[in-house]
Amino acid sequence: MQHDVLIIGAGLAGMRAAYEANAQGANVALITKVYPVRSHSNAAQGGINAALTDRGDAWEDHAFETVKGSDYLGDQDSITILSQDAGPEIIALENMGVIFSRNEDGRLGTRRFGGQKKARTFFVSDFTGQAILHVLFEQILKTNIPTYNEWFVTSLVVKDGQCYGVVAMEMETGNVQFIQAKSVIIAAGGLGRVYEPSTNALICTGDGMGLAYQAGAPLMDMEMVQYHPTTLKANGLLISEAVRGEGGHLYNSKGERFMEKYAPNMLELASRDVVSRSEQTEINEGRGINGCVYLDCRHLGEKFIKERLSQVWEEAHTFSNVDMTKEPLPIRPGMHYQMGGVKTDNDGRCWDISGAGWGGIKGLFAAGEAACVSVHGGNRLGANSLLDTVVYGKRSGQAASAFARETSLQDIPSSIISKDEDMIKSLLSRKDNKDSVAAIRLEMGTTMNDHLAVFRDQKGMETALAKIRSLRERWKEVPIRSKGRIFNTTLINAMELGFMLDCAETIIVGALFRKESRGAHVRLDFRDRDDENWLKHTLIYKQPGAAPTVDTLAVRMTQWEPKPRVY
Ligand code: FUM
Repeated sequence: MQHDVLIIGAGLAGMRAAYEANAQGANVALITKVYPVRSHSNAAQGGINAALTDRGDAWEDHAFETVKGSDYLGDQDSITILSQDAGPEIIALENMGVIFSRNEDGRLGTRRFGGQKKARTFFVSDFTGQAILHVLFEQILKTNIPTYNEWFVTSLVVKDGQCYGVVAMEMETGNVQFIQAKSVIIAAGGLGRVYEPSTNALICTGDGMGLAYQAGAPLMDMEMVQYHPTTLKANGLLISEAVRGEGGHLYNSKGERFMEKYAPNMLELASRDVVSRSEQTEINEGRGINGCVYLDCRHLGEKFIKERLSQVWEEAHTFSNVDMTKEPLPIRPGMHYQMGGVKTDNDGRCWDISGAGWGGIKGLFAAGEAACVSVHGGNRLGANSLLDTVVYGKRSGQAASAFARETSLQDIPSSIISKDEDMIKSLLSRKDNKDSVAAIRLEMGTTMNDHLAVFRDQKGMETALAKIRSLRERWKEVPIRSKGRIFNTTLINAMELGFMLDCAETIIVGALFRKESRGAHVRLDFRDRDDENWLKHTLIYKQPGAAPTVDTLAVRMTQWEPKPRVY
Protein backbone atom coordinates (compact mmCIF):
# COMPACT_ATOMS: atom_id res chain seq x y z
CA MET A 1 0.00 0.00 0.00
CA GLN A 2 2.36 2.65 -1.28
CA HIS A 3 1.48 5.45 -3.67
CA ASP A 4 2.93 8.65 -5.00
CA VAL A 5 -0.40 10.42 -4.58
CA LEU A 6 -3.24 9.26 -2.36
CA ILE A 7 -6.57 11.08 -2.65
CA ILE A 8 -9.14 10.99 0.14
CA GLY A 9 -12.59 11.17 -1.44
CA ALA A 10 -13.82 10.06 -4.86
CA GLY A 11 -16.30 12.76 -5.78
CA LEU A 12 -15.67 15.21 -8.58
CA ALA A 13 -12.66 16.97 -7.02
CA GLY A 14 -11.01 13.69 -6.04
CA MET A 15 -11.55 11.96 -9.36
CA ARG A 16 -10.50 15.02 -11.38
CA ALA A 17 -7.32 15.19 -9.26
CA ALA A 18 -6.69 11.46 -9.73
CA TYR A 19 -7.19 11.69 -13.48
CA GLU A 20 -4.67 14.51 -13.69
CA ALA A 21 -2.07 13.00 -11.35
CA ASN A 22 -2.26 9.77 -13.36
CA ALA A 23 -1.80 11.72 -16.59
CA GLN A 24 1.38 13.20 -15.07
CA GLY A 25 2.72 9.68 -14.53
CA ALA A 26 2.12 9.38 -10.80
CA ASN A 27 1.16 6.14 -9.09
CA VAL A 28 -2.15 7.42 -7.74
CA ALA A 29 -4.97 5.87 -5.70
CA LEU A 30 -8.32 7.02 -4.35
CA ILE A 31 -9.60 6.11 -0.90
CA THR A 32 -13.29 6.66 -0.19
CA LYS A 33 -15.80 5.79 2.50
CA VAL A 34 -18.49 5.16 -0.13
CA TYR A 35 -18.40 3.63 -3.58
CA PRO A 36 -17.29 6.51 -5.89
CA VAL A 37 -20.60 7.01 -7.71
CA ARG A 38 -22.36 7.41 -4.35
CA SER A 39 -20.33 10.54 -3.59
CA HIS A 40 -22.33 13.67 -2.78
CA SER A 41 -21.28 15.33 -6.09
CA ASN A 42 -24.17 13.19 -7.34
CA ALA A 43 -26.60 15.61 -5.76
CA ALA A 44 -25.42 18.73 -7.60
CA GLN A 45 -28.36 19.59 -9.77
CA GLY A 46 -28.33 22.90 -11.62
CA GLY A 47 -25.08 23.12 -13.54
CA ILE A 48 -21.52 24.37 -13.95
CA ASN A 49 -20.48 27.92 -14.88
CA ALA A 50 -18.20 29.03 -17.68
CA ALA A 51 -17.96 32.26 -19.67
CA LEU A 52 -17.30 31.25 -23.28
CA THR A 53 -16.16 34.03 -25.61
CA ASP A 54 -18.03 32.58 -28.60
CA ARG A 55 -21.23 33.17 -26.62
CA GLY A 56 -20.42 36.87 -26.22
CA ASP A 57 -19.37 36.24 -22.63
CA ALA A 58 -16.11 37.20 -20.92
CA TRP A 59 -14.18 35.60 -18.07
CA GLU A 60 -13.82 39.08 -16.51
CA ASP A 61 -17.61 39.29 -16.08
CA HIS A 62 -17.75 35.85 -14.50
CA ALA A 63 -14.83 36.75 -12.23
CA PHE A 64 -16.32 40.10 -11.18
CA GLU A 65 -19.72 38.55 -10.40
CA THR A 66 -17.96 35.85 -8.35
CA VAL A 67 -15.99 38.50 -6.44
CA LYS A 68 -19.18 40.50 -5.82
CA GLY A 69 -21.05 37.33 -4.86
CA SER A 70 -18.29 36.51 -2.36
CA ASP A 71 -18.91 39.92 -0.76
CA TYR A 72 -15.28 40.72 -1.63
CA LEU A 73 -13.88 38.01 0.64
CA GLY A 74 -12.79 35.73 -2.23
CA ASP A 75 -9.13 35.92 -3.26
CA GLN A 76 -9.19 37.64 -6.61
CA ASP A 77 -6.20 35.88 -8.17
CA SER A 78 -7.84 32.50 -7.36
CA ILE A 79 -11.16 33.67 -8.83
CA THR A 80 -9.36 34.77 -11.99
CA ILE A 81 -7.95 31.26 -12.40
CA LEU A 82 -11.40 29.77 -11.78
CA SER A 83 -13.10 31.85 -14.45
CA GLN A 84 -10.26 31.64 -16.99
CA ASP A 85 -9.97 27.86 -16.73
CA ALA A 86 -13.74 27.28 -16.81
CA GLY A 87 -14.21 27.12 -20.60
CA PRO A 88 -11.43 24.58 -21.27
CA GLU A 89 -12.72 22.44 -18.40
CA ILE A 90 -16.26 22.32 -19.82
CA ILE A 91 -14.86 21.27 -23.19
CA ALA A 92 -12.60 18.67 -21.52
CA LEU A 93 -15.60 17.21 -19.70
CA GLU A 94 -17.62 17.13 -22.90
CA ASN A 95 -14.76 15.36 -24.66
CA MET A 96 -14.63 12.79 -21.85
CA GLY A 97 -18.30 12.06 -22.52
CA VAL A 98 -20.54 14.35 -20.47
CA ILE A 99 -23.70 14.78 -22.52
CA PHE A 100 -24.57 18.39 -21.70
CA SER A 101 -28.08 19.59 -22.56
CA ARG A 102 -28.29 21.44 -25.89
CA ASN A 103 -30.00 24.59 -27.10
CA GLU A 104 -32.23 24.79 -30.20
CA ASP A 105 -29.16 25.06 -32.50
CA GLY A 106 -27.70 21.86 -31.12
CA ARG A 107 -24.90 23.72 -29.32
CA LEU A 108 -24.24 23.39 -25.59
CA GLY A 109 -27.16 25.05 -23.82
CA THR A 110 -26.92 27.48 -20.91
CA ARG A 111 -29.32 28.68 -18.24
CA ARG A 112 -29.11 31.65 -15.90
CA PHE A 113 -28.08 31.19 -12.29
CA GLY A 114 -28.09 33.57 -9.33
CA GLY A 115 -25.83 36.59 -9.00
CA GLN A 116 -24.95 36.54 -12.70
CA LYS A 117 -26.30 38.72 -15.47
CA LYS A 118 -25.56 36.25 -18.29
CA ALA A 119 -26.77 32.71 -18.86
CA ARG A 120 -23.43 30.90 -18.39
CA THR A 121 -24.47 27.78 -16.55
CA PHE A 122 -23.97 24.61 -18.58
CA PHE A 123 -26.14 21.73 -17.44
CA VAL A 124 -27.40 18.21 -17.89
CA SER A 125 -31.13 18.61 -17.21
CA ASP A 126 -31.24 18.94 -13.40
CA PHE A 127 -28.74 16.18 -12.59
CA THR A 128 -25.50 17.77 -13.77
CA GLY A 129 -23.32 16.51 -10.91
CA GLN A 130 -24.45 12.94 -11.39
CA ALA A 131 -23.74 13.06 -15.12
CA ILE A 132 -20.20 14.39 -14.60
CA LEU A 133 -19.51 12.02 -11.70
CA HIS A 134 -20.33 8.94 -13.77
CA VAL A 135 -18.22 10.11 -16.72
CA LEU A 136 -15.22 10.81 -14.48
CA PHE A 137 -15.63 7.40 -12.85
CA GLU A 138 -15.53 5.82 -16.31
CA GLN A 139 -12.19 7.58 -16.82
CA ILE A 140 -10.91 6.24 -13.50
CA LEU A 141 -11.90 2.70 -14.53
CA LYS A 142 -10.46 3.15 -18.02
CA THR A 143 -7.10 4.30 -16.68
CA ASN A 144 -7.06 1.56 -14.00
CA ILE A 145 -6.60 3.96 -11.11
CA PRO A 146 -7.04 1.85 -7.98
CA THR A 147 -9.76 2.82 -5.50
CA TYR A 148 -9.92 1.74 -1.87
CA ASN A 149 -13.72 1.64 -1.70
CA GLU A 150 -15.49 1.75 1.68
CA TRP A 151 -12.42 2.62 3.70
CA PHE A 152 -12.67 5.19 6.46
CA VAL A 153 -9.61 7.38 7.04
CA THR A 154 -9.01 7.77 10.77
CA SER A 155 -5.97 10.08 10.68
CA LEU A 156 -3.28 11.65 8.55
CA VAL A 157 0.23 10.41 9.17
CA VAL A 158 2.39 13.44 9.84
CA LYS A 159 6.07 13.35 10.78
CA ASP A 160 8.17 16.49 11.29
CA GLY A 161 5.44 18.67 9.78
CA GLN A 162 5.08 16.58 6.61
CA CYS A 163 2.28 14.21 5.57
CA TYR A 164 3.32 10.69 4.51
CA GLY A 165 -0.03 8.96 4.10
CA VAL A 166 -3.05 7.95 6.12
CA VAL A 167 -4.25 5.42 8.63
CA ALA A 168 -7.58 3.97 7.54
CA MET A 169 -10.05 1.25 8.46
CA GLU A 170 -11.33 -1.12 5.84
CA MET A 171 -15.03 -1.27 6.69
CA GLU A 172 -15.58 -4.77 5.33
CA THR A 173 -13.10 -6.28 7.79
CA GLY A 174 -12.55 -3.60 10.40
CA ASN A 175 -8.78 -3.92 9.84
CA VAL A 176 -6.71 -0.79 10.38
CA GLN A 177 -3.90 -0.16 7.89
CA PHE A 178 -1.23 2.39 7.11
CA ILE A 179 -1.35 3.52 3.47
CA GLN A 180 1.86 5.31 2.54
CA ALA A 181 1.97 8.22 0.12
CA LYS A 182 4.38 10.95 -0.91
CA SER A 183 1.53 13.40 -1.18
CA VAL A 184 -2.05 13.27 0.06
CA ILE A 185 -4.99 15.23 -1.36
CA ILE A 186 -8.05 15.82 0.79
CA ALA A 187 -11.09 15.87 -1.48
CA ALA A 188 -13.57 14.49 1.01
CA GLY A 189 -16.36 17.01 0.42
CA GLY A 190 -18.36 19.18 2.78
CA LEU A 191 -19.76 19.14 6.29
CA GLY A 192 -23.44 19.75 5.58
CA ARG A 193 -24.69 17.32 8.18
CA VAL A 194 -23.17 19.37 10.98
CA TYR A 195 -26.54 21.09 10.48
CA GLU A 196 -30.00 19.57 10.62
CA PRO A 197 -31.65 19.75 8.20
CA SER A 198 -29.29 20.08 5.27
CA THR A 199 -29.41 19.54 1.52
CA ASN A 200 -26.34 17.36 1.95
CA ALA A 201 -26.17 13.57 1.95
CA LEU A 202 -25.78 11.84 5.31
CA ILE A 203 -22.15 11.12 4.38
CA CYS A 204 -21.21 14.85 4.39
CA THR A 205 -19.66 14.89 7.82
CA GLY A 206 -16.61 17.13 7.39
CA ASP A 207 -14.14 14.24 7.69
CA GLY A 208 -11.58 15.87 5.41
CA MET A 209 -11.67 19.18 7.25
CA GLY A 210 -11.54 17.35 10.58
CA LEU A 211 -8.54 15.21 9.52
CA ALA A 212 -6.52 18.24 8.41
CA TYR A 213 -7.51 20.30 11.45
CA GLN A 214 -6.63 17.53 13.89
CA ALA A 215 -3.27 17.14 12.19
CA GLY A 216 -2.50 20.86 12.63
CA ALA A 217 -3.58 22.53 9.36
CA PRO A 218 -5.69 25.69 9.65
CA LEU A 219 -9.32 25.91 8.56
CA MET A 220 -10.22 29.18 6.85
CA ASP A 221 -13.47 31.25 6.85
CA MET A 222 -15.46 28.51 8.54
CA GLU A 223 -18.12 31.01 9.63
CA MET A 224 -19.26 31.29 6.00
CA VAL A 225 -22.04 28.71 5.74
CA GLN A 226 -24.41 28.94 2.79
CA TYR A 227 -28.16 28.59 3.18
CA HIS A 228 -29.72 27.71 -0.18
CA PRO A 229 -32.93 29.66 -0.85
CA THR A 230 -35.01 26.70 -1.96
CA THR A 231 -35.15 23.54 0.16
CA LEU A 232 -38.08 21.34 1.10
CA LYS A 233 -39.61 21.94 4.51
CA ALA A 234 -40.16 18.27 5.28
CA ASN A 235 -36.60 17.03 4.91
CA GLY A 236 -34.31 19.83 3.70
CA LEU A 237 -33.89 18.35 0.20
CA LEU A 238 -32.47 20.67 -2.45
CA ILE A 239 -34.82 22.23 -4.97
CA SER A 240 -32.38 23.45 -7.60
CA GLU A 241 -31.73 27.11 -8.30
CA ALA A 242 -32.37 25.98 -11.87
CA VAL A 243 -36.09 26.44 -11.13
CA ARG A 244 -35.53 30.17 -10.60
CA GLY A 245 -32.91 30.22 -13.38
CA GLU A 246 -35.53 28.89 -15.78
CA GLY A 247 -38.04 31.53 -14.65
CA GLY A 248 -39.63 30.37 -11.35
CA HIS A 249 -40.95 33.10 -9.01
CA LEU A 250 -41.08 33.49 -5.23
CA TYR A 251 -44.27 34.64 -3.46
CA ASN A 252 -45.23 35.39 0.12
CA SER A 253 -48.57 34.66 1.79
CA LYS A 254 -50.00 37.92 0.43
CA GLY A 255 -49.26 36.85 -3.12
CA GLU A 256 -46.49 39.45 -3.41
CA ARG A 257 -43.40 38.72 -5.51
CA PHE A 258 -41.34 39.93 -2.58
CA MET A 259 -37.91 39.91 -4.25
CA GLU A 260 -39.00 43.11 -6.02
CA LYS A 261 -38.45 44.80 -2.67
CA TYR A 262 -35.05 43.29 -1.81
CA ALA A 263 -33.34 42.96 -5.21
CA PRO A 264 -35.24 45.05 -7.77
CA ASN A 265 -32.86 44.29 -10.63
CA MET A 266 -32.00 40.62 -10.19
CA LEU A 267 -35.16 39.54 -8.31
CA GLU A 268 -35.11 35.77 -7.63
CA LEU A 269 -31.67 35.59 -9.23
CA ALA A 270 -29.86 37.76 -6.74
CA SER A 271 -27.05 36.02 -4.83
CA ARG A 272 -28.10 33.12 -2.62
CA ASP A 273 -27.35 34.90 0.65
CA VAL A 274 -29.55 37.82 -0.43
CA VAL A 275 -32.48 35.62 -1.50
CA SER A 276 -32.28 33.41 1.62
CA ARG A 277 -32.24 36.46 3.91
CA SER A 278 -35.18 37.99 2.06
CA GLU A 279 -37.21 34.80 2.43
CA GLN A 280 -36.33 34.52 6.12
CA THR A 281 -37.33 38.15 6.67
CA GLU A 282 -40.71 37.51 5.05
CA ILE A 283 -41.20 34.44 7.22
CA ASN A 284 -40.03 36.19 10.42
CA GLU A 285 -42.30 39.18 9.77
CA GLY A 286 -45.38 37.01 9.38
CA ARG A 287 -45.71 36.86 5.61
CA GLY A 288 -44.70 33.21 5.29
CA ILE A 289 -46.80 30.08 4.93
CA ASN A 290 -46.12 27.61 7.77
CA GLY A 291 -42.47 28.63 7.96
CA CYS A 292 -42.07 28.70 4.17
CA VAL A 293 -42.62 30.88 1.12
CA TYR A 294 -43.88 29.71 -2.28
CA LEU A 295 -41.82 28.79 -5.33
CA ASP A 296 -44.08 28.99 -8.36
CA CYS A 297 -43.20 27.75 -11.83
CA ARG A 298 -46.65 26.86 -13.19
CA HIS A 299 -46.27 29.49 -15.93
CA LEU A 300 -43.35 27.54 -17.42
CA GLY A 301 -45.69 24.80 -18.59
CA GLU A 302 -45.79 21.05 -17.99
CA LYS A 303 -43.66 20.02 -20.99
CA PHE A 304 -40.84 22.41 -20.07
CA ILE A 305 -40.90 21.50 -16.37
CA LYS A 306 -40.82 17.76 -17.03
CA GLU A 307 -38.01 18.10 -19.56
CA ARG A 308 -35.69 20.61 -17.86
CA LEU A 309 -36.60 20.12 -14.20
CA SER A 310 -37.63 16.48 -14.10
CA GLN A 311 -35.80 15.52 -10.91
CA VAL A 312 -37.10 18.58 -9.05
CA TRP A 313 -40.65 17.83 -10.18
CA GLU A 314 -40.32 14.28 -8.91
CA GLU A 315 -38.83 15.37 -5.56
CA ALA A 316 -41.64 17.86 -4.96
CA HIS A 317 -44.20 15.25 -5.89
CA THR A 318 -42.72 12.45 -3.80
CA PHE A 319 -41.75 14.37 -0.67
CA SER A 320 -44.24 17.29 -0.57
CA ASN A 321 -47.12 15.83 -2.56
CA VAL A 322 -47.02 18.91 -4.80
CA ASP A 323 -47.36 18.78 -8.58
CA MET A 324 -45.24 21.78 -9.62
CA THR A 325 -46.99 21.99 -12.95
CA LYS A 326 -50.26 22.76 -11.10
CA GLU A 327 -49.36 24.20 -7.65
CA PRO A 328 -46.72 26.41 -6.03
CA LEU A 329 -44.20 24.58 -3.85
CA PRO A 330 -43.58 25.63 -0.22
CA ILE A 331 -39.83 26.06 0.28
CA ARG A 332 -37.49 27.68 2.81
CA PRO A 333 -33.78 28.48 3.17
CA GLY A 334 -31.70 25.47 4.22
CA MET A 335 -28.06 24.68 4.94
CA HIS A 336 -26.34 23.79 1.67
CA TYR A 337 -22.60 24.51 1.46
CA GLN A 338 -19.51 25.39 3.46
CA MET A 339 -17.53 28.20 1.80
CA GLY A 340 -14.68 27.73 4.29
CA GLY A 341 -12.44 24.69 4.60
CA VAL A 342 -8.83 23.55 4.70
CA LYS A 343 -6.70 26.56 3.74
CA THR A 344 -4.88 26.02 0.45
CA ASP A 345 -2.94 28.03 -2.09
CA ASN A 346 -3.86 28.13 -5.77
CA ASP A 347 -2.31 24.69 -6.35
CA GLY A 348 -4.10 23.02 -3.47
CA ARG A 349 -1.07 23.09 -1.15
CA CYS A 350 -1.97 23.13 2.54
CA TRP A 351 1.26 24.82 3.49
CA ASP A 352 2.61 28.26 2.85
CA ILE A 353 5.27 28.65 0.18
CA SER A 354 4.53 32.35 -0.35
CA GLY A 355 5.72 33.72 2.97
CA ALA A 356 2.23 35.04 3.81
CA GLY A 357 2.68 33.63 7.28
CA TRP A 358 0.20 30.79 7.80
CA GLY A 359 1.15 27.39 9.15
CA GLY A 360 0.26 24.11 7.52
CA ILE A 361 1.37 20.60 6.62
CA LYS A 362 3.84 19.89 3.83
CA GLY A 363 2.83 17.19 1.35
CA LEU A 364 -0.85 17.78 2.11
CA PHE A 365 -3.19 19.15 -0.56
CA ALA A 366 -6.94 19.83 -0.62
CA ALA A 367 -9.57 20.48 -3.28
CA GLY A 368 -13.33 20.82 -3.67
CA GLU A 369 -15.70 21.69 -0.84
CA ALA A 370 -13.25 20.41 1.78
CA ALA A 371 -10.82 23.12 0.69
CA CYS A 372 -10.86 26.90 0.98
CA VAL A 373 -8.77 28.30 -1.90
CA SER A 374 -10.65 30.86 -1.56
CA VAL A 375 -12.87 31.34 -4.60
CA HIS A 376 -16.23 31.62 -2.81
CA GLY A 377 -15.38 34.00 0.03
CA GLY A 378 -18.47 34.93 2.00
CA ASN A 379 -21.01 33.52 -0.42
CA ARG A 380 -20.70 31.10 -3.33
CA LEU A 381 -22.50 31.64 -6.62
CA GLY A 382 -24.64 28.73 -7.71
CA ALA A 383 -22.88 26.45 -10.23
CA ASN A 384 -19.44 27.65 -9.17
CA SER A 385 -18.95 24.63 -6.91
CA LEU A 386 -18.84 22.03 -9.67
CA LEU A 387 -16.46 24.36 -11.45
CA ASP A 388 -14.28 24.66 -8.35
CA THR A 389 -14.09 20.85 -8.05
CA VAL A 390 -12.77 20.33 -11.57
CA VAL A 391 -10.54 23.41 -11.92
CA TYR A 392 -8.89 23.07 -8.53
CA GLY A 393 -9.11 19.26 -8.50
CA LYS A 394 -7.01 19.27 -11.66
CA ARG A 395 -4.53 21.82 -10.29
CA SER A 396 -4.06 19.91 -7.03
CA GLY A 397 -3.55 16.66 -8.98
CA GLN A 398 -0.80 18.34 -11.00
CA ALA A 399 0.90 19.91 -7.99
CA ALA A 400 0.65 16.77 -5.84
CA SER A 401 2.24 14.61 -8.51
CA ALA A 402 5.03 17.18 -9.01
CA PHE A 403 5.62 17.21 -5.25
CA ALA A 404 5.69 13.40 -5.14
CA ARG A 405 8.43 13.32 -7.79
CA GLU A 406 10.74 15.19 -5.40
CA THR A 407 9.81 13.28 -2.25
CA SER A 408 10.72 9.89 -0.84
CA LEU A 409 8.76 7.68 1.50
CA GLN A 410 9.82 7.63 5.14
CA ASP A 411 10.00 5.03 7.85
CA ILE A 412 7.04 5.68 10.10
CA PRO A 413 7.05 4.46 13.71
CA SER A 414 4.50 1.71 14.26
CA SER A 415 3.12 3.66 17.24
CA ILE A 416 1.53 6.11 14.78
CA ILE A 417 -0.58 3.32 13.34
CA SER A 418 -1.28 1.51 16.59
CA LYS A 419 -2.73 4.63 18.21
CA ASP A 420 -5.71 4.53 15.82
CA GLU A 421 -6.28 0.84 16.49
CA ASP A 422 -6.18 1.64 20.23
CA MET A 423 -8.65 4.50 19.70
CA ILE A 424 -11.09 2.13 17.96
CA LYS A 425 -10.71 -0.50 20.68
CA SER A 426 -11.38 2.10 23.34
CA LEU A 427 -14.49 3.36 21.47
CA LEU A 428 -15.82 -0.20 21.32
CA SER A 429 -15.13 -0.91 24.97
CA ARG A 430 -17.08 2.02 26.44
CA LYS A 431 -19.70 1.28 29.07
CA ASP A 432 -23.36 1.72 28.23
CA ASN A 433 -24.79 4.99 29.53
CA LYS A 434 -28.07 5.43 27.60
CA ASP A 435 -26.62 8.12 25.32
CA SER A 436 -26.25 7.58 21.58
CA VAL A 437 -24.30 8.90 18.62
CA ALA A 438 -27.59 9.67 16.84
CA ALA A 439 -28.90 11.76 19.76
CA ILE A 440 -25.71 13.83 19.98
CA ARG A 441 -25.62 14.31 16.22
CA LEU A 442 -29.22 15.54 16.12
CA GLU A 443 -28.71 17.95 19.02
CA MET A 444 -25.60 19.32 17.33
CA GLY A 445 -27.42 19.79 14.02
CA THR A 446 -30.46 21.53 15.45
CA THR A 447 -28.28 23.76 17.66
CA MET A 448 -26.35 24.91 14.60
CA ASN A 449 -29.54 25.51 12.63
CA ASP A 450 -31.08 27.44 15.53
CA HIS A 451 -28.13 29.76 16.15
CA LEU A 452 -25.76 29.77 13.15
CA ALA A 453 -28.18 30.10 10.26
CA VAL A 454 -29.19 33.04 8.06
CA PHE A 455 -29.17 35.50 10.98
CA ARG A 456 -26.83 35.29 13.97
CA ASP A 457 -26.09 37.20 17.19
CA GLN A 458 -23.60 37.01 20.04
CA LYS A 459 -25.95 35.47 22.58
CA GLY A 460 -27.20 32.75 20.26
CA MET A 461 -23.70 31.85 19.14
CA GLU A 462 -22.42 31.68 22.72
CA THR A 463 -25.33 29.38 23.58
CA ALA A 464 -24.38 27.21 20.61
CA LEU A 465 -20.71 27.10 21.60
CA ALA A 466 -21.51 26.00 25.14
CA LYS A 467 -23.84 23.33 23.78
CA ILE A 468 -21.32 21.99 21.25
CA ARG A 469 -18.67 21.79 23.98
CA SER A 470 -21.05 19.88 26.24
CA LEU A 471 -21.85 17.53 23.36
CA ARG A 472 -18.10 16.98 22.93
CA GLU A 473 -17.94 15.80 26.58
CA ARG A 474 -20.86 13.43 25.94
CA TRP A 475 -19.16 12.18 22.76
CA LYS A 476 -16.12 11.16 24.80
CA GLU A 477 -18.33 8.69 26.70
CA VAL A 478 -20.89 7.71 24.06
CA PRO A 479 -21.33 3.93 23.93
CA ILE A 480 -21.09 1.86 20.73
CA ARG A 481 -23.51 -0.96 21.45
CA SER A 482 -22.66 -3.05 18.42
CA LYS A 483 -19.22 -4.52 19.16
CA GLY A 484 -18.32 -6.19 15.85
CA ARG A 485 -15.67 -4.95 13.44
CA ILE A 486 -17.37 -5.90 10.15
CA PHE A 487 -19.30 -2.96 8.67
CA ASN A 488 -19.88 -1.47 12.11
CA THR A 489 -21.74 1.63 10.98
CA THR A 490 -22.25 2.96 14.51
CA LEU A 491 -18.50 2.89 15.00
CA ILE A 492 -18.03 4.84 11.76
CA ASN A 493 -20.79 7.28 12.79
CA ALA A 494 -19.05 7.86 16.12
CA MET A 495 -15.77 8.70 14.40
CA GLU A 496 -17.61 10.96 11.92
CA LEU A 497 -19.27 12.72 14.82
CA GLY A 498 -15.85 13.53 16.29
CA PHE A 499 -14.94 15.34 13.06
CA MET A 500 -18.34 17.06 12.96
CA LEU A 501 -18.03 18.44 16.48
CA ASP A 502 -14.64 19.92 15.57
CA CYS A 503 -16.16 21.51 12.46
CA ALA A 504 -19.12 22.88 14.44
CA GLU A 505 -16.79 24.46 16.98
CA THR A 506 -14.70 26.14 14.27
CA ILE A 507 -17.84 27.58 12.60
CA ILE A 508 -18.97 29.13 15.88
CA VAL A 509 -15.53 30.37 16.91
CA GLY A 510 -15.05 32.00 13.49
CA ALA A 511 -18.53 33.54 13.60
CA LEU A 512 -18.03 34.97 17.09
CA PHE A 513 -14.67 36.36 16.03
CA ARG A 514 -15.92 38.15 12.88
CA LYS A 515 -17.65 41.26 14.20
CA GLU A 516 -19.38 42.43 11.03
CA SER A 517 -21.92 41.17 8.49
CA ARG A 518 -20.53 39.85 5.20
CA GLY A 519 -21.93 37.38 2.70
CA ALA A 520 -23.67 34.50 4.44
CA HIS A 521 -22.50 35.69 7.86
CA VAL A 522 -25.08 38.23 9.00
CA ARG A 523 -24.98 39.35 12.62
CA LEU A 524 -27.96 41.24 14.01
CA ASP A 525 -25.54 42.87 16.48
CA PHE A 526 -23.12 44.03 13.71
CA ARG A 527 -25.37 44.76 10.73
CA ASP A 528 -22.84 46.31 8.33
CA ARG A 529 -19.94 45.09 6.30
CA ASP A 530 -16.80 46.62 7.73
CA ASP A 531 -14.05 46.63 5.11
CA GLU A 532 -11.75 48.72 7.22
CA ASN A 533 -11.43 46.09 9.94
CA TRP A 534 -12.73 42.84 8.46
CA LEU A 535 -11.70 42.55 4.83
CA LYS A 536 -9.66 39.51 5.87
CA HIS A 537 -9.88 35.77 6.23
CA THR A 538 -10.14 33.96 9.54
CA LEU A 539 -7.81 31.02 10.17
CA ILE A 540 -8.57 28.58 12.97
CA TYR A 541 -5.96 26.26 14.45
CA LYS A 542 -6.67 23.35 16.76
CA GLN A 543 -4.88 23.47 20.11
CA PRO A 544 -4.75 20.06 21.76
CA GLY A 545 -6.61 20.13 25.05
CA ALA A 546 -7.46 23.84 24.75
CA ALA A 547 -9.78 26.18 22.84
CA PRO A 548 -8.87 26.74 19.19
CA THR A 549 -6.93 29.88 18.28
CA VAL A 550 -7.92 32.34 15.55
CA ASP A 551 -5.61 34.23 13.24
CA THR A 552 -6.31 36.38 10.18
CA LEU A 553 -4.92 36.66 6.68
CA ALA A 554 -5.23 39.46 4.13
CA VAL A 555 -7.58 38.98 1.18
CA ARG A 556 -5.63 38.98 -2.11
CA MET A 557 -7.03 41.77 -4.27
CA THR A 558 -6.22 42.39 -7.94
CA GLN A 559 -8.57 44.64 -9.90
CA TRP A 560 -11.89 44.78 -8.07
CA GLU A 561 -12.18 47.31 -5.25
CA PRO A 562 -14.96 46.62 -2.73
CA LYS A 563 -18.24 48.40 -3.50
CA PRO A 564 -21.68 48.34 -1.89
CA ARG A 565 -23.34 45.12 -2.97
CA VAL A 566 -26.74 45.66 -4.59
CA TYR A 567 -28.68 43.36 -6.90
O1 FUM B 1 -29.36 24.84 -6.92
C1 FUM B 1 -28.56 24.04 -7.36
O2 FUM B 1 -28.77 23.38 -8.36
C2 FUM B 1 -27.29 23.90 -6.67
C3 FUM B 1 -26.19 24.18 -7.32
C4 FUM B 1 -24.99 24.60 -6.58
O3 FUM B 1 -25.00 24.57 -5.34
O4 FUM B 1 -24.02 25.00 -7.21
